[in-house]
Amino acid sequence: MSSGEFEREKGGGRVEALPESSPFPRSSHSFSSLCYRERVIHVVQAPVVGSVGYPGFNHLLALRSREIADSARPGQFVMAGLVDSSSDPLLKRALAVYSIPRRAGDGDLLTLLIKVVGPGTRLLAALREDDRVSLIGPLGNGFDTSRAKGRVSVLVAGGVGIASVFLLAKELSEAGEEVHLLYGARRARDLVGLEDFQDLGIQVQVATEDGSRGFRGLVTQILEPYFRSYPARRLAVYTCGPNPMMQAVSRLASAHGAGCQVSVETPMACGFGVCLGCSVRTVHSYRLACTHGPVFDAREVVWDTATEGEGVHA
Ligand SMILES: Cc1cc2nc3c(=O)[nH]c(=O)nc-3n(C[C@H](O)[C@H](O)[C@H](O)COP(=O)(O)OP(=O)(O)OC[C@H]3O[C@@H](n4cnc5c(N)ncnc54)[C@H](O)[C@@H]3O)c2cc1C
Ligand code: FES
Repeated sequence: MSSGEFEREKGGGRVEALPESSPFPRSSHSFSSLCYRERVIHVVQAPVVGSVGYPGFNHLLALRSREIADSARPGQFVMAGLVDSSSDPLLKRALAVYSIPRRAGDGDLLTLLIKVVGPGTRLLAALREDDRVSLIGPLGNGFDTSRAKGRVSVLVAGGVGIASVFLLAKELSEAGEEVHLLYGARRARDLVGLEDFQDLGIQVQVATEDGSRGFRGLVTQILEPYFRSYPARRLAVYTCGPNPMMQAVSRLASAHGAGCQVSVETPMACGFGVCLGCSVRTVHSYRLACTHGPVFDAREVVWDTATEGEGVHA
């Protein structure tokens, strides 16, 4: 979804914009809002207003929740699940808030970009207009945007990790900062949301491992020249994607002395610090990805044990 318009290519076809006088429910049912560790968290049932499928098992789900749309910051996420809690799977799934289109009359719209990898994401991607999603959010700390001021912000995303950096790109570009997106995937069909970033007017470069679009190779190969072109103090690197990619980005940034924030995507059961199931090893001690993170300073994370495997964003 480009910012403000529910309009997107769908397998070569075109998805129409939602009419201003959309017949769909215009707001979420809010059950409660609670203050947890000085953050206000909303528990809502959000109506689905649209769902679009993309190649590569990716789906864009548009929902209405004024509470979350008003308060979510770049890099924050929601726990999303079916309203019928007797369904399998029982647990909600963590998903980044992808975009918050703000146009007249649509100020309560937010979108989630979902890559189907298992039962939870399959059920969420199958939801249609008039269904409702049980949401808890916004959750997590989000990116520190103050680091970007006066610097060149280089956003390095892999696969559906792109979902965590769109709000960041939007906020920084609207604040007049220079923003570059480096987006890597295995193949062209795994690239989603490119047009949304291009609509922001930021610089976008793409790398695919099979060379089907953009640079043939890894996204870190198109990141490396930045450290030759700019002094490290001029760069603010932000990254989200598969763990090996984030580890490589962190190493590069640290080798050149550039600041780097990583958004780790450790599997989560509760999303707000209760189950203790999302611990990430850092140089200080173990931290919870859902409350201390998901965004960490890259120098803090102990990568070998922080997040095992490739992650779902490959
Ligand atoms: C803060 C955060 C933000 C996220 N944002 C998005 C997003 O915007 N879009 C999106 O599509 N996904 C996102 N994810 C990942 C998403 O939560 C998982 O893909 C989802 O929980 C999988 O549920 P499932 O029932 O479909 O699959 P499952 O059956 O639970 O898992 C399928 C496979 O994926 C692995 N897996 C599950 N969750 C994760 C995870 N978090 N990291 C690494 N591997 C995992 C499992 O080990 C298994 O191999 C995010 C995760 C976190 C923690
Ligand atoms: S997901 Fe439960 S404590 Fe982090």
